[in-house]
Parts: sequence; C-alpha cells; structure tokens
Amino acid sequence: MGRGLYYFALAMGESKKAQLTIDGSSYELPIIRGTENEVAVDISRLRNTAGVITMDPGYGNTGSCSSAITFIDGERGILRYRGVPIEDLAEHSTFLEAAWLLMEGELPTQEELDTFKDHITYHTMVHEDVKRFYAGFPHNAHPMAVTGAVVGALSTFYPDSMQVTNDREMEIAIHRLIAKVPTIVAYSYKHSMGQPFMSPLNKLRYAANFLHMMFATPAEEYEVDPVVARTMDLIFLLHADHEQNCSASTVRMVGSSQANLFSAISAGVHALWGPLHGGANQAVVEMLEQILASGDDGKQFLDKVKNKRAGTRLMGFGHRVYKNFDPRATILKRACFEVLERLGVSTPLLDIAVQLEEIALRDDYFIARKLYPNVDFYSGIILQALGVPVNMFTTLFTIGRLPGWIAHWTEMIHDPQNRIARPRQIYTGARERPYVPMEQR
Ligand code: ACO
Repeated sequence: MGRGLYYFALAMGESKKAQLTIDGSSYELPIIRGTENEVAVDISRLRNTAGVITMDPGYGNTGSCSSAITFIDGERGILRYRGVPIEDLAEHSTFLEAAWLLMEGELPTQEELDTFKDHITYHTMVHEDVKRFYAGFPHNAHPMAVTGAVVGALSTFYPDSMQVTNDREMEIAIHRLIAKVPTIVAYSYKHSMGQPFMSPLNKLRYAANFLHMMFATPAEEYEVDPVVARTMDLIFLLHADHEQNCSASTVRMVGSSQANLFSAISAGVHALWGPLHGGANQAVVEMLEQILASGDDGKQFLDKVKNKRAGTRLMGFGHRVYKNFDPRATILKRACFEVLERLGVSTPLLDIAVQLEEIALRDDYFIARKLYPNVDFYSGIILQALGVPVNMFTTLFTIGRLPGWIAHWTEMIHDPQNRIARPRQIYTGARERPYVPMEQR
C-alpha cells in the first residue's frame, strides 16, 4: 500500500495511553495532562516507531513544550500569569512586579522587588558606541527594524553575557535587556524624529522613565503625567506574556540552538513586527483612519471584510487561541474610555471602533468564526491619545513582551527535555531527476 493510503485512526480512552491505528498496525502513544486538564497526545516517538510524522501547518494543534508560565483558556477568555488572573494584575500590580512573577514564578517580596528595581535602574544607559549605530540607519527606517537590529547588536557589546548555561551571566543579560530595551526603543523614536537622545532619568519609575526618554528634549522639560505613566505601565503589563505566540515561539526556537539571549530576543522583536502579530495595533489605527477618511460608518468596510475582497481583515479582531473575548481587550477598552476622559482627549477613531465592534459582534460572519476584539483593537487608540506616533506602537509592544520572551527562554534552557527545534516536513517537490546541462535546457 502506498504511503498516501494509510488508514489512520486515533482512540483515546480514560487510560494514560492513546491508541493509534495506521494501516492495520497499532501504536500506543502516551497522554500528557496539564494542571488545567489540558490533554495532549505525545507523538514525539511516532516517526521512530511508525515511520510517519504528523502535519499541522501553523502549529495550531501542536504543543511544542510543556510550560508553567502562562495559562490561556481561549474558549472562556481566561489569561493568567503563573496562575494569577490578568484582571487582578491589571488592577493591583505593576509591570516590573509582573515581569518578576513571569520570570521567577512567584510574586516578589518587597525586598526582592526593590532589589530587582535597583538592578534594572543600574543598567538603563546604553554604551556610547551603541548610540553611534543609529546614525547608520535612515531616518525614515521603521523604529521596529532599528530596535530589532540594535537589540541584536547588544551581543557585540557584552561578550560577558554569552554563555547560556551560566546562570549568573544570564541574570546580568536579563537585567541589561529589561533595563536597556526602553532606552533603545526611545532612541529609535528620537532618531526617526531627528531629535537628540535623552539619557534615562533613574529617579523616575520604569514607564515614566521611558516616557521621559521619548518625549523630553534638551530644550523643554517634560513633566510625566501620572495618568499617562500608569496607563503605559498597564499596557506593558497586559502585553507581558501570551504563552506560545509567534514571537515567544521564535525566541524559543532560536534559543534552542543555544544562540545567545540577545540574538534570540532580537529574533523575537522581528517576529513581533508582523501585522498579523504585534503589528496589528498599528494596522488597527491605520484601518480606522481609512474608514474615517472614506466617510464610511464602518458598514461598508465590514462588507468588504466579509466578501474577503483583496484579503481585507478587520484588524484587531480574531485570535488563534481566543474564541471569546480577549480579557486584555476588555481591560483596555475600559482603560481607553477612562484615559481619554482624564486627558480630555476625544477622537472619532474611538467612535468608529465602538461602532465596528458592535456591528461585528452581532454579525453572523464574525459569530460563526468566533471572532472577537483582541488586545490590539483598543490599545492603538490609547497610545495615540498618549501622544505615541503610530509607527511606534509595535515597538512599544517589544518593551511589554520582553519579560515573557525571557521567561520562555529561561524555561526552555533549563528544560531537561529541550532539544534543538527542528520540525519535519512532507516533501512535495520533484522526484529525483538528472541535472540538465545549460545548453540542453
Ligand atoms: N477579519 C475577518 N476575518 C477573519 C479575521 C479578521 N480579523 N480573522 C480571521 N478571520 C476569518 C478567516 O478569514 C477565516 O475564515 P474562513 O474560515 O472563511 O476561511 C477564519 O476567520 C479563521 O481565520 P484564520 O486565519 O484561520 O485564523 P488564524 O487563527 O490563523 O488567525 C489571526 C488568527 C492571525 C489573529 C487572525 O484572526 C487575524 O488575521 N486577525 C487580524 C490581525 C490581528 O488583529 N492580529 C493580532 C492578533 S493578537 C496579537 O498577535 C498580539
């Protein structure tokens, strides 16, 4: 029987094994259960025993690892960092505390948090030579491209933070990254604006310091509005991790080769840039602006989306995992109204967003596909109200997602089951054929 004609059946009883039948032969596969009763069939030895692989383009049904960092129940709209609900963290915690929680597994004591903050504050400046990198980038370069490149370049400055199996070296690399990435991001903005870099001001808290580096100039003092700083901190916190998303999986994949941490994180930055991932917050605001400029109240745009004309999507809607409300979107929608009111900002983009959401949530197309607003639907409107230019949205997301990437990288490096990530494929190209000399083609 040809390989394409396998008969394939999988039975999974209450036992700890699943039974797979392929072309009359049976194979037992271990079943893995998580702490929240998620179930996986372990197929890692299937190729050795049965000579077949599994196929799952986009990995929508593939567990690449076991992880104790973040739990998402996409059906019920649940997100927890190390077991702590995102709603509680949003209300009571701060970004740096959540970062510690993600990376260390527990909420910090006051002393641990203070020491952590001291370490981060100590490392906020970048080497003077790092600054010279920026001069080589065109002013109109996307700040995300610049950020990814500069983060990658950190590996050239810190040869003492290279050994991925040396915990002390990695601790310093982690502190350097969390401290310096806001500086690097702010400088990518300053470079795009043709403004001088502003040194970090370490008396300020993390988010406030970042805002200072973004918006202060030597000519004018910038007083950080506490509402703006708190909102920025909340945005960072809400983005801090989201289990095996595209960029976190990228960091794990690059890191699995034991490439240094700066290189793995830089790869994560580049993965995050895509409009189907972190780039969606920029795409949402651009979409809302287009709708506004066209005079449409959103209905025509949604018709275009539903007709799938030119691949138009309702940006900020839909998620691979959430088939319900993204809890971060719910928090950000509330924050969006609050912050706009506190700042006295009104924007027609918010009206259009609310209108689009209302129509979409009642529309069969979106209901049938379980498409709900995701974290990006309202975050862009908030960022715009805070004065952040559109091309910086995704770049700011980098700061937020960094602790998650680091937590995943650390978990991966210490996982005894870790192997270099190396998927298989089903080859569909030409069968063997001779090389044809040029004159005979
Ligand atoms: N607008 C319109 N239709 C959509 C949307 C959308 N935003 N998202 C999914 N669909 C449709 C697809 O066309 C498809 O329809 P079909 O069954 O008729 O073919 C169906 O819903 C399933 O979509 P997939 O593309 O298979 O879903 P997938 O899980 O691969 O994609 C993704 C998830 C990429 C997030 C998608 O929903 C999307 O493109 N959304 C818009 C971009 C966005 O907001 N990204 C941010 C995600 S959150 C983050 O990364 C931080």
